[in-house]
Amino acid sequence: MKVLVCGGAGYIGSHTCVALLQHGHEVVIFDSLVNSSPFAVENINILGKSSARFVLGDVRDRDALEAVLAEGFDAVIHFAGLKVACESLEKPLVYFDNNIVGTLTLLQAMQATGVRNLVFSSSASVYGQPDRVPISENAPLRVINPYGRSKLVMEQLIGEFCLADPRFSAILLRYFNPAGAHPSGQLGEDPSGSPSNLVPYVAQVAAGLHAHLSIFGNDYPTHDGTGVRDYIHVMDLADAHMKALDRLDGGGCIVMNLGAGRGYSVLDVVAAFERVCGRPVPYVFEDRRPGDVAEVWADPSLAERTLGWRARYGLRRMCEDAWRWQIKHPHGFRREEARRLSLRRLSAP
Ligand code: NAD
Ligand code: UFG
Repeated sequence: MKVLVCGGAGYIGSHTCVALLQHGHEVVIFDSLVNSSPFAVENINILGKSSARFVLGDVRDRDALEAVLAEGFDAVIHFAGLKVACESLEKPLVYFDNNIVGTLTLLQAMQATGVRNLVFSSSASVYGQPDRVPISENAPLRVINPYGRSKLVMEQLIGEFCLADPRFSAILLRYFNPAGAHPSGQLGEDPSGSPSNLVPYVAQVAAGLHAHLSIFGNDYPTHDGTGVRDYIHVMDLADAHMKALDRLDGGGCIVMNLGAGRGYSVLDVVAAFERVCGRPVPYVFEDRRPGDVAEVWADPSLAERTLGWRARYGLRRMCEDAWRWQIKHPHGFRREEARRLSLRRLSAP
């Protein structure tokens, strides 16, 4: 297949691009690099042992998208979006513009160029505060922040478009908590500034970049009082995208959860990480983080039935791979990139 990967230089996109290249697909990455680095693209090509073409562009730029899509593609995978839930509370319009306008523009460009297959990154954030766990796809959708709202609206836009054009086929994947890194240690989560997600923050504490982890709340109704989530290895997510591409056929829209189907608390993650890295991860308990819920984990049985997919890697493997990435790239790609640029400037005549 020839696949356009919007947001392919990012965390989940880069791992998926490696899998696509390794399976012999032709890959074009379309990314604004607003939250990623060209180093990721270099490493995708090294690990994939093939060359993905890179196009610098914003999915809100319809002309740029149409110019690329007009070459002819079998499918688009759409990862491009802003993803920090707490940031979206401060900047809702930035999130609506980037995520919703970006997706609308992509649909328009796909329609104009006759590209009819789409895999879309959605999120468990569409469920907000669940009534019960595990969460199945028909649970109530009660978003609790603008990021979740943007995901829900994008799902609805894609769903309505599929209804209007029965030749258009879409699979909407609701990821739970992505974690881990490529086993080579050459790709991983590369947040700008301090990570807001648990696993990369724990890795940075273990590496000595922060004095301690703040655990947001130890009074939740969970087995140890800390928040419980369904962590899913990024390599398992990459595999699910490959399977989703194979399943896209002949119209319709399917929504499915991607999670491991079991929950771990913050303290479980800290203990697993300490075992893997052989160092203590100091932590302090703080107040609950606004907008957090007690426990979230998936019923992933629809993905198993529909795609033949299930999570292969557990928490220990996620911690091992996240730690390897942390050791090999202690400051992520973007700090390395800035360093390389400043060295080049210093050495310029
Ligand atoms: P990421 O930030 O690492 O990757 C997103 C990529 O999209 C980046 O390379 C960024 O530069 C690019 N991008 C953003 N806006 C763009 C635009 N307007 N035009 C072109 N490129 C743009 O994030 P990720 O963790 O890889 O997430 C990928 C997708 O999965 C996102 O849509 C995110 O909302 C969703 N998701 C992520 C998580 C998570 O915890 N990581 C959980 C659920 C859903
Ligand atoms: N946590 C801490 N300290 C930290 C970071 C996180 O205690 O420094 C806790 C949180 O309170 C929560 C758990 O660790 O209990 C996981 O938090 P994350 O920020 O890693 O993940 P969230 O569950 O809040 O959100 C993630 C993604 C969202 C996505 C959602 C779907 O960041 O984009 O999963 O379930 F929508």
